[in-house]
Amino acid sequence: MPFPSVRPRRLRRTPFLREMVRETSVEASDLIAPLFIVPGERVEREVASMPGQHQLSVDSAVKRCQRLGDLGVRSVLLFAIPDFKDEIGSSAWHPQGVIPKAIKAIKAALPELVVITDLCFCEYTSHGHCGIMKDGELQNDATLPNLVKQALVHADAGADIIAPSGMLDGMIAALRHGLDESGFSHLPLMSYAAKFASAFYGPFRDAVQSAPEYGDRRSYQMDPANFNEAMREVELDIEQGADIVMVKPGLAFLDVLRAVKERFQMPTAVYNVSGEYAMVKAAAQNGWIDEQRIMLEILTSFKRAGADLIITYFAEAFAALRNKGLA
Ligand code: PBG
Repeated sequence: MPFPSVRPRRLRRTPFLREMVRETSVEASDLIAPLFIVPGERVEREVASMPGQHQLSVDSAVKRCQRLGDLGVRSVLLFAIPDFKDEIGSSAWHPQGVIPKAIKAIKAALPELVVITDLCFCEYTSHGHCGIMKDGELQNDATLPNLVKQALVHADAGADIIAPSGMLDGMIAALRHGLDESGFSHLPLMSYAAKFASAFYGPFRDAVQSAPEYGDRRSYQMDPANFNEAMREVELDIEQGADIVMVKPGLAFLDVLRAVKERFQMPTAVYNVSGEYAMVKAAAQNGWIDEQRIMLEILTSFKRAGADLIITYFAEAFAALRNKGLA
């Protein structure tokens, strides 16, 4: 037995010693802040189930981006609450929609901030599903050309990265081809590659009013029980040209995140989703947990598991703490 000569506690004695041997750190530049964009002006409406997160009009979003940028956050991920919805989600490719407007305004104010756009239809369709429906079934191949139209509108407006989140088969290949053909071969794709059908998205669907009117998303998002299938999904997206791959949600899927990073060694993102955020907020509001420490522990767990990038509603709170030297 190595004891008493080996004593791991020796390096835990003081804060500086602990800092010197710390293996993982989180930086503001690792974080991507999701923003919900609504039509209108001077709108800043808090999402009831996500305290501290707001639906923002374009002008308010620009201000929020300025604040995030000042704190050292390098990137935002935009979601829309459009002014109209229809069966096919046609407002998703309207050049005057809230997303292209937001991209232009944010890039004009903060040219260096990396603006990522979520690419999906559930916010734009009247039924809340992620594409065209027929007889209760999502029409995979018929939806792909619409996805390309939406991507081209975002690309034209100046988006820096496109992030398709619909879990449709062939979506990365279709988008890569469509973007390349229109002169956007330089535009990266961040694929929601391993996205599970999760109850952790509940508060987000409140935020963007995208809960499906009937049925659920289990015929396109993955069964949380499936690890091998996640590997296969990620592999397929890489083959089709994904530049960054994502695992979503985060906390209940850290094993998948770790394996994706180890196996594929791609730039890897994790989505610390709305339900994960809401649980922390709710418990903290009740005085049951220490919100700051829990936040740091959660963000650290993603980095330790292999994430290069963390999409998180905690981006601003974390960056503010970091700036004060408290994280
Ligand atoms: C759209 C999309 C969803 C989320 C991100 N993009 C919702 C869903 O798939 O139902 C969830 C994000 C979150 O919960 O924070 N497809």
